[in-house]
Order: sequence, then structure tokens, then C-alpha cells
Amino acid sequence: MLQINADRLWQSLMDLAKIGATEKGGVRRLTLTDVDRQGRDLFVHWCKEAGLHIEVDAIGNIFARRAGTEAGALPVAMGSHLDSQPSGGKFDGAYGVMAGLEVVRTLNDAGIRTRAPIEVAAWTNEEGSRFVPTMMGSGVYAGVHRLDEILNQKDIDGTSVREALQQIGYAGKALPHKLGAYFEAHIEQGPVLEQTKTTIGVVLGALGQRWFDVVVAGQDSHAGPTPMDTRRDALLAASRLVLEVNRIATTFPDYARGTVGFMLVKPNSRNVVPGEVRMTVDLRNAKDATLTAMADKLKDLAISIAKETRTEIALKEVVYFPPSEFAPELVDGVRAGSKALGYSHRDIVSGAAHDAVYMARIAPTAMVFVPCEGGISHNEIENAKAEDLAAGCNVLLNVMLEKARIAK
Ligand code: GLV
Ligand code: MN
Ligand code: MN
Repeated sequence: MLQINADRLWQSLMDLAKIGATEKGGVRRLTLTDVDRQGRDLFVHWCKEAGLHIEVDAIGNIFARRAGTEAGALPVAMGSHLDSQPSGGKFDGAYGVMAGLEVVRTLNDAGIRTRAPIEVAAWTNEEGSRFVPTMMGSGVYAGVHRLDEILNQKDIDGTSVREALQQIGYAGKALPHKLGAYFEAHIEQGPVLEQTKTTIGVVLGALGQRWFDVVVAGQDSHAGPTPMDTRRDALLAASRLVLEVNRIATTFPDYARGTVGFMLVKPNSRNVVPGEVRMTVDLRNAKDATLTAMADKLKDLAISIAKETRTEIALKEVVYFPPSEFAPELVDGVRAGSKALGYSHRDIVSGAAHDAVYMARIAPTAMVFVPCEGGISHNEIENAKAEDLAAGCNVLLNVMLEKARIAK
């Protein structure tokens, strides 16, 4: 069976990781910043070197295409994202894009043509950290979000997606095109594969998510003279809500998860009772009905906490997508490919969101997971073994070739 070049894949990842490199060995490549632009430019440069044709669409998604031999055959795409969390790792997203490129380079070296065109996609703003929502580029591409609404989304400094795209020169014109299949390779970002000493995760689907922006309004007042029983302490209310989010996630079934990852306290002065808190809530579940029940519970608790603390709590849902399932025939292909290549493998559900979640709505889609050290991701210390990354890329190569079909 054809194999990719493990050293070249690793080197591409390390070279890409120099862009936005952080002191602790991670990357900070927030979407649509100049650092993201540099990462995109390097990817485009490598794609051109590999003879690929580049197109960019209006939300800044990049498609690098290798022509097929059969007129009218739908392209088979592979990809992921180049943006990172504020203190992200070298592999989250980058691996899927570099693995796609490595597949193409391997085919070039072997002089193999495919009947269907092959594309490597780099989706804009998968992380949803600088701009909400998450999976922004693939969401627009799949018709989940309206382009004009998304272009108007603003970051915390008031810069819109439209402005940021123009600033980095990635506001393109390409229109969406039909795809025959979509594959995404990714590190697991959790502990299961490493703990079970398994090389390949055959991803069945991903948890659904509901994200909220929360504003807790109380009243600024003096920390000394204001009696405890007359305070309207927004941070106290927010803190109780944080505890309830954790309680919800630890008491509901079906892979329930709950996180408060962002908080802004105003005025943030040690001797002022805080009058306002802005925070986020991220709820996840494998069953849509349970996810909805978790959100309903959160809303009820917000009402009672607000009452008890004499504050107002406003919840605005900013992301919702139900749990997703990938295409059974492609998932079977990932399983069979892992077996044929001699890699240990197990079925797994993704706790993280991926562009594949939205691509699954418009094309048969599957994902390949590989282990990461300690299951740690969204962290600068994120790490993975070159041999595991190569194994995942070999599986990707083989499942992709099955769909794109080698030209005689
Ligand atoms: C994507 O990074 C997620 O939050 O699942
Ligand atoms: Mn990712
Ligand atoms: Mn991520």
C-alpha cells in the first residue's frame, strides 16, 4: 500500500508552527490576524509548489485543487483549519491541513493521477475564539450561516469579519462547489486513544453544542459601606452560575460537558462590588434532547440565581448545532483502511467540533483521529507522535484514494 512521507509531514507541521510560535511551544494564530495571514500564505506557497490551483471564497476559505482525469467527477476534499486558540497547540487543525497536503505530495511523487479532482481545504475560523460562531467558514460554505450576517460579526475590539478578511487579503470570490466526499484528520484532543494504546480513532460523529453569551447586570458599589444584604454583586451571581454549569455537566448523561471559559468583570477593581460580568457558557452532549434539557436547566437556574442575588442575567444563544453522525460507508472505509494498514483502531465520538460537522450536511464525510499526549489540547503543550500522525495520514491517503479512484 502507498505510504506518505512521515518526516516531510512532521517538518511541514514544525515549519508552520514557527508562525505565531509561543514560548511554551504552542501557537497563537487567531483567525484573520496577520499571523493567520502568514500561515495561510505559507500553505498557499506549498500548494502552488505542489502544482495545485488555489481558490479563495468570500469567507476566506482556501481550496487547493489537483485536477482529476474524469470530466465532471466531483472533487474529493480533505482539510481542517489553520487558525488556533489564543494559547493553542501546533497540531489542532494544522494537522488536517498538512495531512491533506502530504497526501497530494505523495501522489505527486508516485506519479499517481486520480479520476476525481482532489482538494485540500483550509477553513476560516474553526475555533470561534476571536469571532463567534465556531466553524464559521465551513458553516457558511455548507449554507448553515448567511454570508452577510457572518461578515458583520465583530471581535471584542469591534473589528468585523469583513474588515479582517480585507486586511489580510483573503476576501475571495470563489463560489461553493459540490464535493463527492470530505475527509478530516485531527488529533483526538482527549485521552481515549492514548489510554487504550490505540493508533487510529474511527470517528462516528461529534457532540452537539449550545453556546451562550451571558451578561450579568448588578450594581457597582463601595466594598466597605455597602452592607452584604443590599449588594447586587454580578460576580457573585456569575460564580454561582459557573458552579451550576459544572453541576449540569456532571449530572446529565450522554457525554454531557459544560464549560465557562471566558469572563470579563467590571469594573474589576478590588474595592468595588462588581456591577457587570460578561461570560460564556459552552454546553455539549451526544443526544440532542439531553443537550436541550441541559440548556433549559441552565435558563431556569439563571432566573433563580438572578432573583436571589438581585441581579439580572441575560442569556443569548450564539451557537447551536445538534450531535452529528458521519457517513457510515466512509466510516467503514476508515475502519477497513486502518485494519489493512495494520494499525490498532477503535470507534470514537468527537467531543470537539470540527469543520467536518458542517461538511457532513452537504457531502459524505468521515474523520480520522490520532492520539495526542496526555489527551491535552487547546493548550500550548499539545503534542503528538510523528509516527501516529503519519499513521493517520496513511489512513487518510487510502480512504481518499478509494473515493477519488486511481486513473488507469
Ligand atoms: C473546537 O475547537 C471546539 O470547541 O470544539
Ligand atoms: Mn480543530
Ligand atoms: Mn480547536
